[in-house]
Amino acid sequence: MDKFRIIGRTPLKGQVHVSGAKNSALPCMAAALLSEETVILHNLPYVRDIITMRRLLEDMGCMVLMPERSTLKINASKIAFFEAPYELVKTMRASVLALGPLLARFGRASVSLPGGCAIGQRPIDLHLSGLEALGAKIELRSGNVVAVADRLKGTRIIFEKVTVTGTENLMMAASLAEGITVLENAAREPEVVDLAVLLNRMGARISGAGTSTITIEGVAKLRGAEHTIIPDRIEAGTFIAAAAITGGQLEITGCNPDHLGAVIDKFRQAGLHIERISDVALLVDGNVRLEAVDVATEPFPLFPTDMQAQFMATMTQARGRSVITENIFENRFMHASEMCRMGASINVQGRQAVVDGNRRLTGAKVQASDLRASASLVLAALAADGETIIDRVYHIDRGYDRIEEKLRSCGAQIERFRE
Ligand code: UD1
Repeated sequence: MDKFRIIGRTPLKGQVHVSGAKNSALPCMAAALLSEETVILHNLPYVRDIITMRRLLEDMGCMVLMPERSTLKINASKIAFFEAPYELVKTMRASVLALGPLLARFGRASVSLPGGCAIGQRPIDLHLSGLEALGAKIELRSGNVVAVADRLKGTRIIFEKVTVTGTENLMMAASLAEGITVLENAAREPEVVDLAVLLNRMGARISGAGTSTITIEGVAKLRGAEHTIIPDRIEAGTFIAAAAITGGQLEITGCNPDHLGAVIDKFRQAGLHIERISDVALLVDGNVRLEAVDVATEPFPLFPTDMQAQFMATMTQARGRSVITENIFENRFMHASEMCRMGASINVQGRQAVVDGNRRLTGAKVQASDLRASASLVLAALAADGETIIDRVYHIDRGYDRIEEKLRSCGAQIERFRE
């Protein structure tokens, strides 16, 4: 298994380029199932989850070509298998995104029910009740969700909770339904908007994406399209945290500052200088005295849960006490105990973590537990004295494209090795 060896306390300096958003790429790849024509996607990050989604599509019978490292051409004209099997769903919950498109186009789909995962229960009940409202019949058979439908019928669906992939799944299904579907309390994340842009290019009629009410007028058929995936706002946020925690200076290019509002605000409150130098670049100066600030995770446009762990790492180096509240997932503080092993003072109680900052961190052997937790351990290691070994970096490989190369190019002492 791959590990990272990191020697800390070098301020990062230089330019770092953000890859395409994994969380936008995954639903856009699933959207290719909606058409018999080819969908071409550019700016895909080269990360494990994208490879898993590619495998899922190929196993179903899609023809997938990769003319360049960040481009895929997906053709779903010959689908022979309508199932997302347990082996894939257990490694990537986003496999559930195949459900809506398969059901809408072929009238049947089966997806293994995702079990609990490291960051909590993460049920898919809202995806399923939404599909039922569109007319699907859903049964649970040997751990698989089996859904069948004649043509889906548009209706009004009010989400009990904001769900990102739930909104995406239903938006895709409703694109091929008969009549109009209105999604209320829909997720407003930029990744939902990006998917809507692609679907509209494919001939869908979607309006309101980016607001909490999305209206979808169903069409009989969707065509192929070409689309460039938006930049990864969480990767960009992770680099902001890297500049903050090392007291460095980074120019972050290829990002969309408009998607980073709440993240930039919080880091600014903590004392960081962040300047928008163009529509696609930020200059971050972390050579400041960091002050503790509280943060609570909420759906977009508020502070993202996917930046909580990285912000916590940063707060271990800030003056004072910060309270971090996790409102989206019930069990997303596993990184706290690993950071405590490095000398941080973090007290977790239920959904809150109290971080007493300004502690000198020291290198240790630590274990990555999920994607964003691993990123936070890399950050803590960059701030720590001496050597940190991070085990199970396959978690970070699920969502960060060549993170060690990108950090190394800014002066970080980080290497990948295998034992
Ligand atoms: C997506 C992101 C993930 C991010 C999360 C929250 C992708 C591929 N993943 O995950 O990186 O951390 O949004 O921003 O885009 N819920 C239910 N029932 C459901 C669905 C969700 O109760 O049917 C709950 C979840 O348990 C959670 C909350 O709703 O408490 C939000 O989850 P959701 O937005 O669905 O997360 P994902 O789409 O899985």
